[in-house]
Amino acid sequence: MLRTMPNLNLAARRLYSTARPPRVLVTGSLGQLGTTMVNTLRAKFGSENVVASDIKKPALEQRSTGPFVYADVLNYRAMEQVVVDYGIDWIVHFSAILSAAGERNPALGLNVNINGFQNVLDLAKNHGLRLLSPSTMGAFGPTTPKDETPDLTIMRPNTIYGISKVHMELLGEYYTEKFGVDFRSLRYPGIISADSPPGGGTTDYAVDIFHSALKENRYSCFLKSDTRLPMAYIDDCIVGTMQLLEAPQEALTQRVYNVHACAFSPEELTAEIRRHHSDDFAIEYRPDFRQAIADTWPRTMADEAARRDWGWNPLYGTTDIVRIMLEKLRPVYAANASSNAATSSLIPDITTPAAVVAN
Ligand SMILES: NC(=O)c1ccc[n+]([C@@H]2O[C@H](COP(=O)([O-])OP(=O)(O)OC[C@H]3O[C@@H](n4cnc5c(N)ncnc54)[C@H](O)[C@@H]3O)[C@@H](O)[C@H]2O)c1
Repeated sequence: MLRTMPNLNLAARRLYSTARPPRVLVTGSLGQLGTTMVNTLRAKFGSENVVASDIKKPALEQRSTGPFVYADVLNYRAMEQVVVDYGIDWIVHFSAILSAAGERNPALGLNVNINGFQNVLDLAKNHGLRLLSPSTMGAFGPTTPKDETPDLTIMRPNTIYGISKVHMELLGEYYTEKFGVDFRSLRYPGIISADSPPGGGTTDYAVDIFHSALKENRYSCFLKSDTRLPMAYIDDCIVGTMQLLEAPQEALTQRVYNVHACAFSPEELTAEIRRHHSDDFAIEYRPDFRQAIADTWPRTMADEAARRDWGWNPLYGTTDIVRIMLEKLRPVYAANASSNAATSSLIPDITTPAAVVAN
């Protein structure tokens, strides 16, 4: 499956060239995907042309690679000031409350995912910006066909995350039709990364399992063994996002695209980890409220339109992902073991659904 292991920055440089680099604002840039996206954009367009933003405090190294600003997507005026001050042309909107976090705090999920998106969409309309805002396989629901799920199908999700993402897709399309806004979106599968922790999604287990394997050679999984879901390695996700971001308008036949890379269940992932790490790796299954979310999502997505229109072409399959994750994380845990440093789970503490969280 894996043909090359491209250095992401080199791949980005090779793939894209523009006469005048756009000035890009990335919201939610300190999340799982933001850091890699910012680095890739900066390698392509120049550090000074990419403004990273979030409401969290960045680490020193995240500040040192280019401009960083505090920007709460719920505050239109503050966002507008960033757009005006930095002469922003494009927004990559990564601020969101993910599926499990959204079930835990629906009010926050609705506010950030709906009102925050409305603000960036209005900024795009009022200042003539290109806006890329990712959607998710979580925009599908229990009545959606689960295999080879097409771009256009039944979409009746039953999570706050899914509902807010369908709202985002439709409103983005509406603004494109009605006001000529250059809105673009792609429905990511679960994204797997070693360098940045996931932010509270239903596929977070597929990252945490590697940390637990290396730390204690065992894992307690919050999904059932046979829950098969679409997944992608972060490099494929970011390269694809760059491709859609830079695609010429005339190449786009739709505004929202499925993207699929690979699919596996916890037991299939465990088998690969045993093969590459240790036969003794132990797993137990303790499904929690996230199982009900996963049960509504596709097993595989059809992504012909993304491949045809702007060249989506993922390189990493399940075996590649397992090998890379172990290669990247092994030295971290070896160093931690020798210094006896704390290596607690990178997964946010999301163990209870909204219904049982006093609020
Ligand atoms: N990671 C995945 O597996 C995955 C899968 C499907 C879709 N997506 C989508 O990709 C995008 C990025 O996801 P991610 O995994 O990096 O998310 P994440 O949860 O890791 O990061 C989201 C960031 O948004 C920031 N944020 C929250 N509220 C904010 C506010 N009011 N103003 C500004 N920033 C705020 C957070 O501080 C955080 O850094 C999201 O739209 C998400 O829905 C991600």
